[in-house]
Amino acid sequence: MRKATVMHHEQIDRTFVDYFEERGHRLVPGSSLIPPPGDPVLFTTSGMHPLTPYLLGRPHPMGRRLVNVQRCLRTTDLDEVGDRTHLTLFRMLGSWSLGDYDVSQSLRWGYEFLRDGLGIGHDRMHVTVFGGDDQVGLDETSLRTWEGLGVPVELTVQENWWDNGLTGPCGPDSEIFIWTGDGPPRGTPGTDERWMEVWNHVQMRYHRHEDGSLTSLRHPSVDTGMGLERLEMVLGGHRSVYQGSGLMPWVESVQRLWELSERDQRVVCDHLRTGVGVVEDGVRPSNTGRGYVLRRLIRRVLTILWRRDPTHTLSDLPSEIVPVGDVRTVFTDEERRFRELLRRGRHVVTTRRSRGPFTEEDYRDLHETHGLPRDLIDEILGEVIPGHVHA
Ligand code: SER
Repeated sequence: MRKATVMHHEQIDRTFVDYFEERGHRLVPGSSLIPPPGDPVLFTTSGMHPLTPYLLGRPHPMGRRLVNVQRCLRTTDLDEVGDRTHLTLFRMLGSWSLGDYDVSQSLRWGYEFLRDGLGIGHDRMHVTVFGGDDQVGLDETSLRTWEGLGVPVELTVQENWWDNGLTGPCGPDSEIFIWTGDGPPRGTPGTDERWMEVWNHVQMRYHRHEDGSLTSLRHPSVDTGMGLERLEMVLGGHRSVYQGSGLMPWVESVQRLWELSERDQRVVCDHLRTGVGVVEDGVRPSNTGRGYVLRRLIRRVLTILWRRDPTHTLSDLPSEIVPVGDVRTVFTDEERRFRELLRRGRHVVTTRRSRGPFTEEDYRDLHETHGLPRDLIDEILGEVIPGHVHA
């Protein structure tokens, strides 16, 4: 098996962008994590997101072949954070054909980039292709392309359909997986989780409307996205994304300061890092929308830290990772507010609990009159009543 090239994340960025620039793509600067006003989503969730109008047919001022590196934030995977591969904030390497070349070309370039650009052996690749459902048929173009390249294919349905919400551009996709196990590759992406998904090539062929119907786009596009942190993990032969160059400074600082289980340590690193990114893009903690996501991330970290030792404080984090200024102030203010809320909350919750088990009305009442969210009440109940199971 050929050894993949070990690279720092900036080298991977550069290699990716160069590869696509050499093939006529123009580099689009990355956008903020905060989408423009009027956009229904809270955060930029993939590289294609800022390109939505162009995928639906509007001409892009930079042409029909684009490449970029976009910071993305996904809260849909929140519960999976703590495992080897899921992060809330990650960087996506993206390439686009806006009504230009077809998916077959995109897949062949993708394959060549992984094999020749990054040195990932052919024998470590497996792909999945859309097998067809009652609305859209089998993706024969992708299937034939992969068969021609000699890469094993697994057909799936739901896993190989991409959309960015209920409406907007969407279509079948083909995902490239790399084997991350110790021995020779086994099984398929669907049967062995050591096959790790790294690159998604989506054919934006349809527009889904409010009523759920699909119409064909006049100029189908190809949208690809590859998670940088996962790619670095594969190239470095790491056990998890936390061993990559972007996450390592977090892991080292957190490890030095606090003794945590591996899973807790990962959650703490992920959430703090995302918190910094979100504050840097202008979000402040609040009880709604983006501000609430930020608040939840910081409070979840504090809950983990205080379970071990209530004197732990975010002020101990070094300025290399939590810069002095806005970010540090936001973190320490939120910590102070949460400490105070918990102090009052413990009192209110225990008093109420002494009258009997919590009802829905108690939850509502404590939220409305004392600002105590449900998960926090459960957290306190868990502390004061042994064996309390979260509702
Ligand atoms: N939109 C696809 C994804 O997010 C590819 O960019 O996976």
